[in-house]
Amino acid sequence: MKIEEFLKKQREKMRLRVLVPSSKRDKEKILINDKWFINLSSNDYLGLSSHPRLISAQRTSAEIYGASVSSSRLLSGDFELHHRLEDEISSFVGKEAALVFASGYQTNVGVLPAIVQKGDVIFLDRLAHASIIDGARLSGAKIFRFTHNDADHLMWHLKKTRKDFKTCLIVTEALFSMEGDTPPILEIISLKEDLNCLLMVDEAHSLGVLGSRGAGFCEDIAKDIELLMGTFSKAIGGFGGYVACSALMKDYLINSCRSFIYSTAPPPAVIAANIEGINLIKEEPERRELLLAKAKYLKEALLKKGLAVKGDFQIISIIFGSEKEAIDCAVHLASQGFWSQAIRPPTAAESRIRISVNFHHSQEVLDRLVKAFS
Ligand SMILES: Cc1ncc(COP(=O)(O)O)c(C=O)c1O
Repeated sequence: MKIEEFLKKQREKMRLRVLVPSSKRDKEKILINDKWFINLSSNDYLGLSSHPRLISAQRTSAEIYGASVSSSRLLSGDFELHHRLEDEISSFVGKEAALVFASGYQTNVGVLPAIVQKGDVIFLDRLAHASIIDGARLSGAKIFRFTHNDADHLMWHLKKTRKDFKTCLIVTEALFSMEGDTPPILEIISLKEDLNCLLMVDEAHSLGVLGSRGAGFCEDIAKDIELLMGTFSKAIGGFGGYVACSALMKDYLINSCRSFIYSTAPPPAVIAANIEGINLIKEEPERRELLLAKAKYLKEALLKKGLAVKGDFQIISIIFGSEKEAIDCAVHLASQGFWSQAIRPPTAAESRIRISVNFHHSQEVLDRLVKAFS
């Protein structure tokens, strides 16, 4: 079959997704096809990506170091700035060391195969992010998936199978990207200790928002978790991923993580903005306090409307019985000036509208959104 024929057949089978370019953004607003919408889909939860300090850090560092380092860190792409970010993030989240990657996706697809291989086993929460699943598949280890946030199901699996494998890695998320809920982390830690496993937690959506210092859901229990992964691309307002761990583990990952070794180091402008993002999280706790207060207000108002609402923090999902209903709702929201794509399986377990509440969403905007839903 010719490639064109194959692609046409695939196109018919797919629920085709299209890219819709925006031409401008202004805080919580997004300009698409000459129309301004309120953006409900940005992970820039605290509005830091447009903060003058991040932008100025990018400019200054590009002038000093150039636009790109054009090399893997193991060759000539290792700048003092990368080490500074690793020191900042590791001490912020409470681990001895950290290793920075070009993205959160690259972190997960690199770290998992470095830790476990054939003959080992991985236990994943059933709703774990695609990057975690891809990393697990790449590893060659046996994969078991436990029911979402169900420590009893994890224990059942572990007790049954742990003895058959060498290394055992448990992976979960700190704040689930679609459900907006958190795992029974203390129970998971106790299980991994009892059954001699390693634990990796993905703080992609919780870093900067959860924890009394904004250092994530696990900020007080970091010492009990071997691998704390996260991304700078969401609440930090920057870009790139990291894994925080022991110094010994970091040395091992530098020498074994293929997505770290065989990829160009993130550019200095990006690294400098990430450092500034962390500084702002430390200096301005009121941003996350306000964000969480807004999210709570919105959730309660949507629940009062009788909608099926999920999510305990800044990620709120409105669940629908079918893909069509979710798509129709997205179209209706757009007609009311709100930009939110319908999320459908397999990206999430159930079709939904996922709202990312933003620091810049005003009370008036939230009230208008609730009205649009009714
Ligand atoms: C839970 C989780 N982990 C990892 C990633 C990947 O991070 P990045 O966007 O930095 O590649 C995402 C991105 O959405 C995510 O939601």
